[in-house]
Amino acid sequence: MKTGHGTTLIGESPEMQAVLRAARLVAATDVPVLIEGESGTGKELLARDVHRHSRRSGKAFISVNCAALPEALAESLLYGHRKGAFTGAIDHQQGYVGAAHGGILFLDEVGELSLPVQAKLLRFLESGEFQPVGQAQPQSVDVRVIAATNRCLEERVRAGEFREDLYYRLRVVPLELPPLRQRQGDVGLLTERLSADLAARHGLEAPRFTPAARRRLEDYGWPGNVRELRNFCERMVVLFGGRVVDAGNLPAEIRRPQPATGRFRLPAGGLSLQALEVDMIRQALQQAGGNRSRAARLLGLTRDTLLYRIRKHAIEA
Ligand SMILES: Nc1ncnc2c1ncn2[C@@H]1O[C@H](COP(=O)(O)OP(=O)(O)O)[C@@H](O)[C@H]1O
Ligand SMILES: [Mg+2]
Repeated sequence: MKTGHGTTLIGESPEMQAVLRAARLVAATDVPVLIEGESGTGKELLARDVHRHSRRSGKAFISVNCAALPEALAESLLYGHRKGAFTGAIDHQQGYVGAAHGGILFLDEVGELSLPVQAKLLRFLESGEFQPVGQAQPQSVDVRVIAATNRCLEERVRAGEFREDLYYRLRVVPLELPPLRQRQGDVGLLTERLSADLAARHGLEAPRFTPAARRRLEDYGWPGNVRELRNFCERMVVLFGGRVVDAGNLPAEIRRPQPATGRFRLPAGGLSLQALEVDMIRQALQQAGGNRSRAARLLGLTRDTLLYRIRKHAIEA
C-alpha cells in the first residue's frame, strides 16, 4: 500500500484488507454503498477511496454531514431552491445533490436525517430525480450515493426512526470498518506511517518508540480509533521529534492500564452483557408495574426499542 499524503488508507490487518478488497470491487460499479463503523475508523477516507478508484474520480465528491444539517434547511441545502421559494431565498441556489452531478454524494451520519428528508432521499435514489424547493418540475442528475453511519442503523429502523425501504436501498453493499482495537497489528504500522507523514509535514524528524512503548500502544483501546491515533502521533512528533519515546513518556491514559471508566464496574471475572440486559429489563418492568412505556423511560430507551429487545430475549411480561 502506498503512503499518500493523508489520503491513503493504511492497514495490513486481514480485517482491513478484506474491507479494502470489497471497496475496490464496488468502486467499479454504481451501486449504493453503506459504510458502517465507529467514529474515527476512516469512513470518509474509505468513501474517498471508492471515489478515487471509480469512473467518477474526475468529478465531484460532495461530503455532507447529515447531523449538522439544520432540520428546517435540510431540504433546500440538499436539493437547492428557487428564488422566492421561501423568505430569505433571494436567489436560485444549487443544492448538494446538484453539485454532485457526475460524481459522488457522501452522506455522513445518514441516520440523523429526519423522516420527511428520508422520504425525499428515497424518491431521489429510485428515480434519479429531485425537486429544488419551489420548483414544480423535477430535475434529473447522475449521482452515486455513498452513505455512512456510526451507530446501529438497523436498530433505528426497528424503532421506527429510520425508513426500512431507504435502509435497504442504501445498504445494497455494506462495508463495515472494524474498530482500530480489532485490527491485528495495524496500530504499529499506523503509528510508524502517520508519524513519518506528520513529521515531514512539520519539517521535523519522527520519534522512535521503544518496544515497551509499542506494547502500550498495542494494548490501549483507542476509543477514538484512527483519528485519536493520528492526533497522538502529531503530539509525539511535536514533543519528541527525532528522539526516543519510552512507555513513561506516553500520555497518562495510554501509559496506565485502562482504568474502569464510567459508573459501572466490570467484575474481575467478567460478565455476560446479554444476561445483564435481560436482568435490567426485567427489573425495569417490575419497577414500572408492567407499564412498558415507563419501563422504557427507566432504561433510556424508546418504547419500540424496548419492545424489540423484550421480543429478542423472549422476556416474559
Ligand atoms: N486506515 C487509515 N489510514 C490512515 N489514516 C486514516 C485511516 N483511517 C482514518 N484515518 C485518518 O483518521 C481521521 C479520521 O478519519 P475519518 O475518515 O474522518 O473517520 P470517520 O469518518 O469514520 O469518523 C482522518 O484524519 C483520516 O485521514
Ligand atoms: Mg466522519
